[in-house]
Amino acid sequence: MYMSFPYLIDFDLKKLPVHKTDVLVIGGGVAGLTAAVTVADKLSVQVLTKGSIKQTSTWYAQGGIAAPLAADDSPELHFKDTIAAGAGLCDPEAVKVLVGEAAAAVSMLLDLGTGFDKRDGSLRLGREGGHTVSRVVHAGDATGSAVMASLAGTVRDHNNIRLTENVFVLDLLKQDERCRGALVFDGATGSVNAYVAQAVVLAAGGMGQIYEGTTNPPAATGDGLAMAYRRGVKLAGLEFVQFHPTALATDENPRFLISEAVRGEGAYLVNEKGVRFMVGRHPLAELAPRDIVSQAVVKEMRASRSDHVYLDARHLPPEMLPTRFPAIWAHCLAVGFNLSTDLVPVTPAAHYLIGGVVVDLYGRSSLAGLYAGGEVASTGVHGANRLASNSLLEGLVFSRRIGALLLKTIEPGGALEIDLGLVQETGRPKGKSLAYVREKLQKTMTAKVGVIRTAEGLREAAEYLADRRYLQGYRYGKAADWEVVNMLALAELIVAGALSRRQSLGVHMVAG
Ligand code: SIN
Repeated sequence: MYMSFPYLIDFDLKKLPVHKTDVLVIGGGVAGLTAAVTVADKLSVQVLTKGSIKQTSTWYAQGGIAAPLAADDSPELHFKDTIAAGAGLCDPEAVKVLVGEAAAAVSMLLDLGTGFDKRDGSLRLGREGGHTVSRVVHAGDATGSAVMASLAGTVRDHNNIRLTENVFVLDLLKQDERCRGALVFDGATGSVNAYVAQAVVLAAGGMGQIYEGTTNPPAATGDGLAMAYRRGVKLAGLEFVQFHPTALATDENPRFLISEAVRGEGAYLVNEKGVRFMVGRHPLAELAPRDIVSQAVVKEMRASRSDHVYLDARHLPPEMLPTRFPAIWAHCLAVGFNLSTDLVPVTPAAHYLIGGVVVDLYGRSSLAGLYAGGEVASTGVHGANRLASNSLLEGLVFSRRIGALLLKTIEPGGALEIDLGLVQETGRPKGKSLAYVREKLQKTMTAKVGVIRTAEGLREAAEYLADRRYLQGYRYGKAADWEVVNMLALAELIVAGALSRRQSLGVHMVAG
């Protein structure tokens, strides 16, 4: 069905500056930085990020990290909730690893100085959708930035780690069926560099920006997934795009997230008539798993011909809201909503890609030398619907495992060989800017491949994308256009996955 994808640019490795490192990490969120700090006492590490580390999805994360730490909790109960949310598609072995190593992952962050909320000296645990007990470790409503501050501090202080921000990774370098590094564009100098490594850890995050409304940062254009696909790496589960039910219904990009933790503290969801529509739909009502809530929200929006429903926190203690949720409180006020006195309009937004690069329990992909962690990876822990706050956890747990494996299998300064020479595709002309395609692509994905899909809508999206496939064959010269090439490739994969899965399951709902 697909054309075979060339490298994004022609290049001759013999003429490029080549940088060598033991471990190359692509991505500066929780998964990338955790892998880096885990191996750095022994191995040299180069971390590359597309923007600054403040532009990663991890930095944006509000809710927290799920871990079975409470007296009324256990790894078995966390396992059960994860499996139940995953709608029958989770890999039980991977989930066992996730919940079994959660406490150690949280301890690691505490050792690094992450300022999680505590009460009487113990971690304060919040509640989110799909969890039957309180188990979400958090730092106010800005858990991601607290985690990143401690990880990034460690990364910057470590002599063995080099962090290079604001570079665009074009492609993975592959030779003799092994990943050997990456080809990288530095927009500041306009130069292309090669990074060659014994192991490459792909932790490049998700793709929410292929939708019109997303909670993801602008950098989330699926580059890591697309570059893995171009080198023939196995991907799976791409039809499972998770929509968060409660993004603030404004025109902002990204859409501002109102954490599930607000519902965890007791906020309701109500429709245009002021009726709590989740009651009676699921025993956990507003705290049902996310797929169920998002689908119910869309049904309510359609029934009332509105582009939003409302979050109602007016009955919650007014002194609690600004202290427990300072960032959400301030943002809502800034755009005209007082959480204590107003109904706040919310709408679903693309939030998390469940599928990705298929990896085993140590993050190994189908290509030797390439490991994947975080949102770009598919470990199998999320099944068809991710349990809230299991994503930072997955990034931590599985990147620690990648790191542990690399420490055992790689020697510092080991052999680094690559001899790709000139890679020149068939002289395709330069294409004109793809800026005009990006917006139409986002609208098409939102209209046809959203929370509730139809077979007809999916076929129309497939047709739209097939008609534009030729655009991926041209050569472009700037990151914004390479992003669109990646977005087009990934959108085709998502739509193909959705078309081939005929039955509704988890976040993949097909109506009619
Ligand atoms: C949230 O804070 O609601 C998001 C948590 C998550 O995506 O797991």
